Amino acid sequence: MTKQEAQERIEKLKQEINHHRYLYHVLDRQEISDAALDSLKNELVKLERQFPSLLMPDSPSQRVGGAPLDAFTKVPHRSPMLSLEDAFSQDDMAAWEERIRKVYPRGAHGYFAELKVDGFAISLEYENGVLKRASTRGDGKVGEDVTENIKTIEAVPLVLPDPACIAKEAKNRLTIVQNEKIMKILNAHIHTGNIEVRGEVFMAKRVFEAINRERKAHGEPLYANPRNTAAGSIRQLDPKVAASRKLDFLAYDLVTDLGQRTHAEKHDILRILGFRTDAYARVCGTVSDVHALYRDIETKREKLPYQIDGMVISVNDSETFARLGVVGKAPRGAVAFKFPAEEATTTIRDIVVQVGRTGALTPVAHLEPVPIGGTIVSHASLHNEDEIARLGVKIGDTVVVKRAGDVIPKVVSVIPNLRTGKEKAFVMPKRCPVCNEEVVRLEGEVIVRCVNKKCPAKNKEALYHFAAKPAFNIVGLGWKILDTLSDVGLVSDPADIFAIEKADLIPLERFAEKSADKLIAAIEKAKTVPLAKFLYALGIVHVGEETARLLAEQVKSQKSKVKSNEILEMFQKFSLEALQEIPGIGHVVAQSVYDYFHSAYARRLLQKLADAGIIIHSPKVKKTAQKLKGKSFVLTGELETMTRDEAKEAIRARGGNVISSVSKNTDYVVAGAHPGSKYDNAKKLGVTIVDEKEFRNMLK
Ligand code: IVH
Repeated sequence: MTKQEAQERIEKLKQEINHHRYLYHVLDRQEISDAALDSLKNELVKLERQFPSLLMPDSPSQRVGGAPLDAFTKVPHRSPMLSLEDAFSQDDMAAWEERIRKVYPRGAHGYFAELKVDGFAISLEYENGVLKRASTRGDGKVGEDVTENIKTIEAVPLVLPDPACIAKEAKNRLTIVQNEKIMKILNAHIHTGNIEVRGEVFMAKRVFEAINRERKAHGEPLYANPRNTAAGSIRQLDPKVAASRKLDFLAYDLVTDLGQRTHAEKHDILRILGFRTDAYARVCGTVSDVHALYRDIETKREKLPYQIDGMVISVNDSETFARLGVVGKAPRGAVAFKFPAEEATTTIRDIVVQVGRTGALTPVAHLEPVPIGGTIVSHASLHNEDEIARLGVKIGDTVVVKRAGDVIPKVVSVIPNLRTGKEKAFVMPKRCPVCNEEVVRLEGEVIVRCVNKKCPAKNKEALYHFAAKPAFNIVGLGWKILDTLSDVGLVSDPADIFAIEKADLIPLERFAEKSADKLIAAIEKAKTVPLAKFLYALGIVHVGEETARLLAEQVKSQKSKVKSNEILEMFQKFSLEALQEIPGIGHVVAQSVYDYFHSAYARRLLQKLADAGIIIHSPKVKKTAQKLKGKSFVLTGELETMTRDEAKEAIRARGGNVISSVSKNTDYVVAGAHPGSKYDNAKKLGVTIVDEKEFRNMLK
């Protein structure tokens, strides 16, 4: 991407992100999912990193939250309510650790890992042990006073426990040294000073589902997700509405210094003060411990009573954390390690029509590869013409793609505001892209079909033949899988096999992470084939393994690696007569081979295979090759230093022919030990007879 293109894209992304942020933070409305919005923000951050001069202070990447609603009193925060930098992978986590090392070359000693609950942040201020004020994050500097609504949440203590209770609790939870020190400060603060606690207000999945059930029963529109429903409830001007919503609260930060030395101690103190904290939270010695916990939580994610979108990892030691400071909008010492989102935005490179076994034409979006749900997605089905029209999708569009659990990736929506004007409308072809016959769309049907009975796309045998052992030998690509791939519109001709990606396989029945990896590796390995196997794989009528081998020997190439389109050119140079003259190839076979290499189907397929990166090995013609050119040999008897096959191979490699019976035209008979009748014939006809030693000299 050029700087100019990046600038245009950044401008469009900014506008779009700002638009959604306004909807989300100010109006509590959502047009695209959090994951899709994150994906746009991610793209923006990446572009700004790539072109640092394009990073402007007004970029959404530099900002937190949104403007407070006018209806609530504004509350300035004592210290800014920051946001977190996102990490999506082990690499991102390693980069975070690297950023820490830039400040602390020896790195941080220990991390605190806790769940990142998908709700919204609230600051709670206590004076003399009494909840005085609760405010939203707002833009990070100024929030909104939502005290009355927050008071309806039972998990939020309205008063903090008295010093005697604290003393008892503290004894159980803190070390002796800490206990004494913290006790002093705690006592002093609780009833004299201010304590500020921050945490997440959220709605449990169960509560959310119950609300939606009720709304459904009353014929009311359903809420989109727990997070928005919770946010909407807290920003109701009438606290009674908030009260009816049964919200929940988890504390994650103690802003006031009560003597804590680590993030873990903050959690201890928060619990002593009567707050609920994350029960899964743990201190991790190293980032690799963090990864282990992350994987464990990921498996529990579905079953948790509330939605989480990742984990928050902080440098545990408070002093180190403070010294690491703040970069832009986020503390350097903490990171949001997100779980793979099920949705992301990407662009459509092309829309390609596949023909399935039933002749159905399926438009498939070829995407700019994007990680979704842990794998890279590069294809998404668009199903049919009507679906394309419904989505209003064009080639070049930025789209939201969803890959939830084990379903095939889907284009969910288009982001028309990101268009540049260069997008192209998709037109369903009038002819089958495989056989070039006219296609039909029956009345009342959404599917366009190729009705040519002989269309190669419908000839599934061709696919199985292609992948089978004597051909491309793609281990693990059998009948059932090829059927499925054809049914979902991923494979209509053999070349499509090489476009299959891991993410295409995972949603399919019978596939898991490992089996998908295995098949992808097998496909990759099959990309290099010997010429004879390649010719056999094409499934040319009458060309079996042996004929394929004979044909392979005919194309002399100066290169040992050839592309399939070059193979086509080589065979097109053969006249029908020339093919018929090849020993071992009769009229019928020659005609079939000739017809194949002059067909439009072969031209398209071999070009497509070349584009897919197929490399064909043809045995290189060596310099000595011409030494026995045009000479015919007959072998008889047993050779000592080589097998029959090796001898044949050696003669052929030097341009000679091996024939089975002796005639006047035979140039040499190679006689080993115990020769047969061929030896006698040669003598009778006056053909030159050579022994093994002489033969070897000829080969030198
Ligand atoms: S720490 C310095 N811990 O995630 C940043 N945040 O992306 C303070 N969140 O605004 C945030 N669970 O709404 C922190 N255990 C947790 C969290 C958490 C959810 C939310 C919070 C924050 C956002 C940051």
